[in-house]
Amino acid sequence: MIPEATLSCIGCGNKIEHDRVVYSCPRCGDLLEVKLENLSSVDASLLKERWRSRPIGVWRYRELIPLRGERYITLHEGGTPLYRCGKLARWAGVKELYVKFEGANPTGSFKDRGMCVGITKALESGRQAVICASTGNTSSSMSAYAAAAGMKSIVLIPRGRIALGKLFQTLLYGARTIAVKGSFDDALNMVMQLRDSKDLYILNSINPWRIEGQKTLAYELYDQLGMGDYVVSVPVGNCGNISAIWKGFSELIELGLLNGSPTMLGVQAEGASPFADMILKGHETLKPLEEPRTIATAIRIGKPANWKKALRAVRDSGGTVAKVSDWEIVEAQRALASLEGIGVEPASAASLAGVKKLVEEGRLDRDSTVVCISTGTALKDPNEELLRGIEFSEVEPNVDSAKPLIEEILKP
Ligand SMILES: Cc1ncc(COP(=O)(O)O)c(C=O)c1O
Ligand SMILES: [Zn+2]
Repeated sequence: MIPEATLSCIGCGNKIEHDRVVYSCPRCGDLLEVKLENLSSVDASLLKERWRSRPIGVWRYRELIPLRGERYITLHEGGTPLYRCGKLARWAGVKELYVKFEGANPTGSFKDRGMCVGITKALESGRQAVICASTGNTSSSMSAYAAAAGMKSIVLIPRGRIALGKLFQTLLYGARTIAVKGSFDDALNMVMQLRDSKDLYILNSINPWRIEGQKTLAYELYDQLGMGDYVVSVPVGNCGNISAIWKGFSELIELGLLNGSPTMLGVQAEGASPFADMILKGHETLKPLEEPRTIATAIRIGKPANWKKALRAVRDSGGTVAKVSDWEIVEAQRALASLEGIGVEPASAASLAGVKKLVEEGRLDRDSTVVCISTGTALKDPNEELLRGIEFSEVEPNVDSAKPLIEEILKP
């Protein structure tokens, strides 16, 4: 019932025992992934029966998340709502549109899915502290899970470039926070230079166990929607999440559970789009961007570490990429909130903005059924700039001064 697992190099195919702490291939230096062997011979109906006996969430699918023992850390992550959004479908110009709201996770973003698995592996490793570089959501999530697991946490953030809500969370959960006078890419580079420390466990998404948790988003979509030939739109920064979701779908296909195949759509902000540019220009390697810029700080990344995995996700699924401007992101954020009551942070709105854009460009069929992944909650980023043009009124503290305004609002 539980498939054998190894760590497998995506470049040279080198295989390593899955309980070793290693972040890249010792032979060629490429990325590693957790490979579940012989999935096609697993009894999928028995597996489904077990899943149905548990609440929806990351650990419903524990047979496909290989751990050393039985113990795992959880704050009840996953099991997030899937909304069917008729008004947004019309807004974006497609037949049907769903939003998977990852902001409903314990620390308000999809990172919790990967972090519950990552921190469990960190505990298994016997190291004393976890460390990451972060644009804010990873650090919020890691520090919460480290607290739950009783581990120390160390966070490197690009100084002045992370949203207030995320900085607040990271500090509140008790991470030792270090502001780097540079970019996210600089911070990640620093963390990677500490890879040989025997005290530290790195929890950025180059750690294949993060991806193992995040892949459960695909399993949930299968449980909530069945999933056939749908388009799944994902905001892309460091390229981890789109890789993880495609890994989940690939495993479901191998298990014989999916009819048809979802198509992955990766969306980047125009000012931070090295991955989208690579694909649109037909290049085989990624050209890093020195000064990425976008209002969506979570995806302000110039050198995405997981680009090779994400390239595979887009190619193998027959998918594509889109680039959206900051204003298109803000418009999509406002549409999600004011048409459907779904409050998301800017990066999370990129998935919807990308769908609208592709329809307008004639690159996405109006007959499509789309699932937009909304990766984090609106409260993460209470930024005045995001409210530009939205008015509110001040009045004296008596009802007579408010009445004219109310009458104005109530006019047909
Ligand atoms: C809210 C949000 N959306 C999207 C992303 C992009 O995910 P990835 O870096 O795995 O591509 C991030 C990454 O930090 C994020 O925080
Ligand atoms: Zn290798």
